[in-house]
Amino acid sequence: MDKLIELMKKLLADLSAYRIKTQYYHWNIEGPDFREYHAFLNEIYDAAAEDVDSVAEHIRALDAYAPGSLGRFMELTSIKDETTVPNALEMISRTYQDNQRVLASAKAACSVADDLKEHGVLNFLEGLIDDYEKQAWMLRATTKK
Ligand SMILES: [Fe+2]
Repeated sequence: MDKLIELMKKLLADLSAYRIKTQYYHWNIEGPDFREYHAFLNEIYDAAAEDVDSVAEHIRALDAYAPGSLGRFMELTSIKDETTVPNALEMISRTYQDNQRVLASAKAACSVADDLKEHGVLNFLEGLIDDYEKQAWMLRATTKK
């Protein structure tokens, strides 16, 4: 069970970093397709914010405390902090790479939940993976030349 909790904490940190970074891009994106990118990124960070809450509540249901500080998230996440303002396509391409990191964390936790027969968490993670795979398709399609 400790392994699953650890992986769920990592997923929580990744989703929190993803939410912050995609909202940052939503604010600062520029270019002729501004309105579309701005709205697309809004959908992404709204979904991530909801998923952050659900992952934290599943950690509590596993009888562990959910991390919630920026410092702890920085230690746990593999998503790189963003301080620059890249161009629109670069923002979408970085968002795609980060979406893949979220997916990798979710899949790692999912496989352990499956081994442990933790069906509630397993079911939740399968739904989340489905959502982020669909989002990956949209991000890939947006950057295709
Ligand atoms: Fe906004």
